[in-house]
Amino acid sequence: MPVARVNGRVRRPLPPLVTRKVFIRTFGCQMNEYDSNRMADGLRASHGMTVAESPEEADVLLLNTCSVREKAQAKVFSQLGRWRELKEDNPDLVIGVGGCVASQEGDAILSRAPYVDLIFGPQTLHRLPHLLAGVYTSRQPQVDVSFPELEKFDHLPPPRKEGAAAFVSIMEGCSKYCTFCIVPYTRGEEFSRRFDDVLAEVVELAEQGVREVTLLGQNVNAYRGSMHGGDQADFALLLRYVSEIDGLDRIRYTTSHPVDFNDRLVDVYGDLDKLVSHLHLPVQSGSDRILSAMKRRYTAHSYRRLVQRIRMQRPELSLSSDFIVGFPGETEDDFEATMDLVHGVGFDRSFSFIYSARPGTPAAELPDDVPMDIKKRRLAHLQEVIDAQASRVSERMVGTVQRVLVDRPSKKDPNQLAGRTDNNRVANFDGPAALLGRFADVVITEAMANSLRGRLQPTHPATSSRLKATA
Ligand code: SAM
Ligand code: F3S
Repeated sequence: MPVARVNGRVRRPLPPLVTRKVFIRTFGCQMNEYDSNRMADGLRASHGMTVAESPEEADVLLLNTCSVREKAQAKVFSQLGRWRELKEDNPDLVIGVGGCVASQEGDAILSRAPYVDLIFGPQTLHRLPHLLAGVYTSRQPQVDVSFPELEKFDHLPPPRKEGAAAFVSIMEGCSKYCTFCIVPYTRGEEFSRRFDDVLAEVVELAEQGVREVTLLGQNVNAYRGSMHGGDQADFALLLRYVSEIDGLDRIRYTTSHPVDFNDRLVDVYGDLDKLVSHLHLPVQSGSDRILSAMKRRYTAHSYRRLVQRIRMQRPELSLSSDFIVGFPGETEDDFEATMDLVHGVGFDRSFSFIYSARPGTPAAELPDDVPMDIKKRRLAHLQEVIDAQASRVSERMVGTVQRVLVDRPSKKDPNQLAGRTDNNRVANFDGPAALLGRFADVVITEAMANSLRGRLQPTHPATSSRLKATA
């Protein structure tokens, strides 16, 4: 592309609209990954943009941020600093910040990073095309971190199949206000997408060949979607309808909250074969004193009872969770109570974090009094025990036949195929490329640290994908 010198600086002319490219860097959870894909879809529809493989070849750089822990937030400004250098070489480069840090900081980001052109929150990402047009016409920074509730769902581009598995957002925000968590302040209160709209999206995806959906939200089982007759559907009813959709074979969801896990949802595990035997159910702590200070609204006993009730419906359930260690005031006894719960319940691969005080949350007012070396020791111990439990789950899978949704060539050996089991493990095996996008029955032959190895088994009606036993 020809270049011109303006005020002694090399200035490339703006490329024609159709060739503009966007590069998106995503920090944080699956919700953010989903949102980043929607940003790319929106800019493709409005500006004909394609996705760039690297920041160097992009005309627009977007950072989708996370503020759940301090570390994630700190990464934002160091990333922006690196992009600033690209902008010094190319002043037409547009830099945007979306996600939870944008929502929290708003235009304060501009005082630290004045070269940023766009700031938008999780609830205004559908306005991104409009905001970008504003940057191109006014050459002024555009900021919109408002919470226009359902509007976001009304402006989603039509669903597009990208593989055999897809995410479908069913609700946004969270109204639980756990005392440590920033999410209700950055993503707003819970609001649910309309029931018919969720079903229509899943039907459309299934018609395009999607075989597995993950229903997404901060708190999916708080779902209360309006139905066309004026009634409200809860999450259990939504699952029952989704499971009736032809062509769709596997349903996952994340994340759910123990308090919203009603009997109707427990019963679904006895009735719906398409629902995977894998559940992510964050517990955070096994100490009732800490759970109460976190405002989780359940006890260790009621969590255990809930898991027992679900396992009565689905004995092979594999359970993963989130844990926080070093919450203000956590004593050795509190931590021991967490370890008791871990030993008693048995978890599959899980997430555990050192407590990170988030400004503006109630817990940030409490003294962060557990010394860092103790927090680290507790985290290491917890992770070691959970990793050992997860390895036992993998080892018990050796010799079983697992139903795997084949989604790509294997990373280690492109001549092999890779797919996910019901309990979300990657299994690698030799097989024909014709299996991509389809389910295959795979005999597990070896359990590795992060994946499984297997052998394709000719499909037989008597094959079983269920685990031999629970953890
Ligand atoms: N909706 C989920 C639930 O039911 O708990 C949680 C969503 S949150 C974004 C993901 C996880 O981040 C939480 O489960 C918690 O373990 C962790 N987390 C949130 N705030 C944290 C903080 N201030 N410090 C450390 N970990 C935190
Ligand atoms: Fe955060 Fe608690 Fe909601 S962890 S996302 S406030 S359920």
